[in-house]
Amino acid sequence: MLRTTSCFITGANRGIGLEIVRQIINLDPKPINVIAACRNPDKAEELKKLTSVTNNLHIVRLDVRDFSSYDKLSTEVNQIVGTTGLDLLINNAGVAAFKTLSQVSPKDMLDSLEVNTVAPLILTKTLLPLIKASDKEKTSKLIVNISAIMGSISENNQGGMYPYRTSKAALNMITKSVAADLEKEGILCVSMHPGWVKTDMGGKNAPMKVDFSVSKMLKTLGSIDKNSNGKIINFDGKIIPW
Ligand SMILES: NC(=O)c1ccc[n+]([C@@H]2O[C@H](COP(=O)([O-])OP(=O)(O)OC[C@H]3O[C@@H](n4cnc5c(N)ncnc54)[C@H](OP(=O)(O)O)[C@@H]3O)[C@@H](O)[C@H]2O)c1
Repeated sequence: MLRTTSCFITGANRGIGLEIVRQIINLDPKPINVIAACRNPDKAEELKKLTSVTNNLHIVRLDVRDFSSYDKLSTEVNQIVGTTGLDLLINNAGVAAFKTLSQVSPKDMLDSLEVNTVAPLILTKTLLPLIKASDKEKTSKLIVNISAIMGSISENNQGGMYPYRTSKAALNMITKSVAADLEKEGILCVSMHPGWVKTDMGGKNAPMKVDFSVSKMLKTLGSIDKNSNGKIINFDGKIIPW
């Protein structure tokens, strides 16, 4: 199972991000700091409820499109984690614009790229000093980009969904480059497909419950090593082709 001392999760107020927080706060051994980022902490009722049953959860404000807030965020996270640093970053926040060829607009493409692609990269860059600062003897350091099988070029036989597919394919390229850049520093990076999951994004017809998907993902993340570095990995551990 995954081990983490201090971790940071984006889009943590609902869906997969919220469930990741729910399960990570109770990992054994218990993480010291779980930092849950969301756009509107005042309205994050589920997250707020969790803070009353655990002492390791911190809620921070982050709209991932607000790049001008990243430096301030880094200072805030630094104040929370101190010398422990961060050993796990989960770039989970995402948007899904399923636009066909006849529907898609420049704005659709740019909005999806901003949230699903640019933000994970720039947040990784911003928090990297804190990731480097964590004690790698105790835990392996990991950056997880929550991607999607729809970003796999070779698995795309159906077309469509231009903003979503393109932004996740580009995210996978970022995963590959970050993995190559940081492996020598003991930091691994993977893209992870959570499966088709019942959330606001996945919809009610999705076959998988969010707690099942997240428990499988956390188990899989516990076994990431240099062989899986830079890959797109299914929630159950299978490698997805590019
Ligand atoms: N569900 C699936 O079947 C499925 C399949 C493959 C991949 N995924 C991926 O899994 C991740 C989570 O998806 P989900 O199913 O949990 O979706 P969801 O229920 O729609 O939740 C999306 C999360 O992202 C946050 N978010 C969106 N834009 C943001 C922004 N600008 N700044 C900060 N947070 C932002 C949302 O916050 P707000 O509440 O503030 O909007 C929310 O917390 C996404 O990256 C998605 O692409 C999901």
